[in-house]
Amino acid sequence: MKRLEGKSALITGAARGIGKAFAARYAEEGATVAIADINLEGAESAAREIGPNAYAVRLDVTDQASIDRAIAVVEERTGGLDILVNNAALFDLAPIVEITRDSYQRLFDINVAGTLFMMQAAARSMIKRGKGGRIINMASQAGRRGEPLVGVYCATKAAVISLTQSAGLALIKHGINVNAIAPGVVDGEHWDGVDALFAKYEGLEPGEKKAAVGAAVPFGRMGTADDLAGMAVFLASSEADYILAQTYNVDGGNWMS
Ligand SMILES: NC(=O)c1ccc[n+]([C@@H]2O[C@H](COP(=O)([O-])OP(=O)(O)OC[C@H]3O[C@@H](n4cnc5c(N)ncnc54)[C@H](O)[C@@H]3O)[C@@H](O)[C@H]2O)c1
Repeated sequence: MKRLEGKSALITGAARGIGKAFAARYAEEGATVAIADINLEGAESAAREIGPNAYAVRLDVTDQASIDRAIAVVEERTGGLDILVNNAALFDLAPIVEITRDSYQRLFDINVAGTLFMMQAAARSMIKRGKGGRIINMASQAGRRGEPLVGVYCATKAAVISLTQSAGLALIKHGINVNAIAPGVVDGEHWDGVDALFAKYEGLEPGEKKAAVGAAVPFGRMGTADDLAGMAVFLASSEADYILAQTYNVDGGNWMS
């Protein structure tokens, strides 16, 4: 028996990276998945790759009208939303004395307000339907402690952990479980960008930061998007019925080192 048979899921920022890997795994487990991304072309290409259980939806998580439209598309297409994964996020890096208001605002708009108002829209839809649901937020080990160059991103992910706790406690009375996943360092296009930013601020060669963080993971390497997908399926499945308001590290032991 597939673990998400007949479920309708929406994953934000699923045109590439971790969200795309989750979408592929959800589709394998029998769910119908909306690949919702600001990059519509990328979302369409990901949906084609994944197959008939996936479809693309244009979504900008900073735009309320776009959020409402995306939820309406899912309701019309599948009869109602069962699972939301809040995965879209932006990274930036700068020493505290160089952080700009523009960078601060963009990161908080996407990573925090985007997560909150997607949760709100999904919860309203799920409550109206009366069948409960699942919300999974992508936090980060960066949300568990500050880092000298990563102040704003760390703060956004700490906010995601806090919102997961509040929403988890508030929404369980409607049968909606809210939990989060905190990855460590996950290889992919996202980390290529992170590596380039560290190279700029720490005077490193391209690839040097990535090699160093990978070597420091107790498991022995950076994570892959697929390493996280099992947790995303578990938290969306009925096996996680009694779990709420938690943030799970899936990080090859990185948080312990
Ligand atoms: N990669 C890592 O090492 C790592 C570590 C810890 C946490 N995370 C978290 O996991 C999640 C996925 O990370 P990833 O590595 O796949 O990132 P990624 O940068 O590869 O993908 C992010 C996706 O979000 C989309 N997006 C950006 N702004 C958007 C908006 N306003 N509305 C809708 N979509 C938007 C992008 O188009 C992209 O497809 C993020 O929340 C990230 O913070 C990643």
